[in-house]
Amino acid sequence: MGSNEAKEKGAKHIIYCLYGFGIGLLFPIFITLVVMVNQGYDLSLGALVSTHLSHSWMILVDTVPFGMAFFVGTLGKQNDELAIKKKMLDLAQKKLEEKNRLMQVIFDNAPVAYVILNRDFRFEFANRTTCSIAGLSEEELLGRRCYDIVGKGVICKGCPVAKAFVSKQIEYNTKVEQNRLGKTNIIDQVAVPIVENGQVTGVIEIVTNITERLEMANQREEELMATINTLVGLIELKDKYTGGHSQRVRKWAGSIARAMGLSFNEVRDVEIAASLHDIGKIGIAELILNKPAELTEGEYEAIKNHPVVGENTLSGLEFFRNAGKIIRHHHEAYNGSGYPDKLAGEEIPIGARIICVADAYDAMISDRAYRKGMTNGDAIEELRRLAGIQFDPEVVETFIRTWNDDQNCVA
Ligand SMILES: [Fe+2]
Repeated sequence: MGSNEAKEKGAKHIIYCLYGFGIGLLFPIFITLVVMVNQGYDLSLGALVSTHLSHSWMILVDTVPFGMAFFVGTLGKQNDELAIKKKMLDLAQKKLEEKNRLMQVIFDNAPVAYVILNRDFRFEFANRTTCSIAGLSEEELLGRRCYDIVGKGVICKGCPVAKAFVSKQIEYNTKVEQNRLGKTNIIDQVAVPIVENGQVTGVIEIVTNITERLEMANQREEELMATINTLVGLIELKDKYTGGHSQRVRKWAGSIARAMGLSFNEVRDVEIAASLHDIGKIGIAELILNKPAELTEGEYEAIKNHPVVGENTLSGLEFFRNAGKIIRHHHEAYNGSGYPDKLAGEEIPIGARIICVADAYDAMISDRAYRKGMTNGDAIEELRRLAGIQFDPEVVETFIRTWNDDQNCVA
């Protein structure tokens, strides 16, 4: 409390006391007047004073103004305190109402779905975007189980809400879902457990519809891939024996990466790296690249430098950074005898191990100036023979399996 406020309160208290004293003063005057009337005195100020002073019991009556002063002063003080409390409560109430209003505006206008689910997976709260994603009104959503709404009748596979109830931690998931209106959405889910007294009483689920964002990203990626294809065309223009090589390596490497369970982004990086794995050959003379005879040691060294040149070419572009690392190591051997860094086994990035197999297979089955291409069966046999030496055995077996599945070609 400030000193000015304290002074103001003190002054008000004195005023209340004086007010009480004034009211209380009426009582002894009234009593004295009653006595005067009873005893037949004239009504004058002098008679009033003498009558009052001539009765000793009037002392008791004279205490009434002081009592009233105390009573009214205390009452006024309490009243002031109550008024202040009420003012503060009104202010807090207004702030709360404003906060609730703002929260409502945020929840209603956010392009993100916010829901609260209870332990029975029933909706306790759903904002406007939730209704839009689900294709249902708020009344249709509240009280219903989330998995009944998506029409499955059982908890969805990988449901982050179910996981959050058990783990008591924030859980994440991305899935493709078709709503009641038949629209397919790609949604990102974040489930935040509400923990009370050590128990998860509910889960806040935040759902973001990333369909449009992904479509935009895909469009951007398509534009980048068109640029990549132009670059690939330039590489293949220089090397007359590699027509279509990069596209085939990309296709096989992508299939292997998906079959090995790599993430969406990792598969994309492998595919980009596969398309551009020989981009470093741009700096090598066409005479060396297309030489129909055995290379000299110097020529071979120039060719061995192409993975490093390739990585350096792409290193300035953030989008190609991971692909650049894969490109650097696509000629490493599983037993550590490759180049440029002589990495071995799992030291070699998985993307590079995958491209190494896909690249070698395509080279084996392709005709060269100095030799005829192998048959598919011979190439597969060669890959298996070199598994654990040049190639990652798991990648070789995955390649053979995906090749059989995709091409229906017997190894
Ligand atoms: Fe290469």
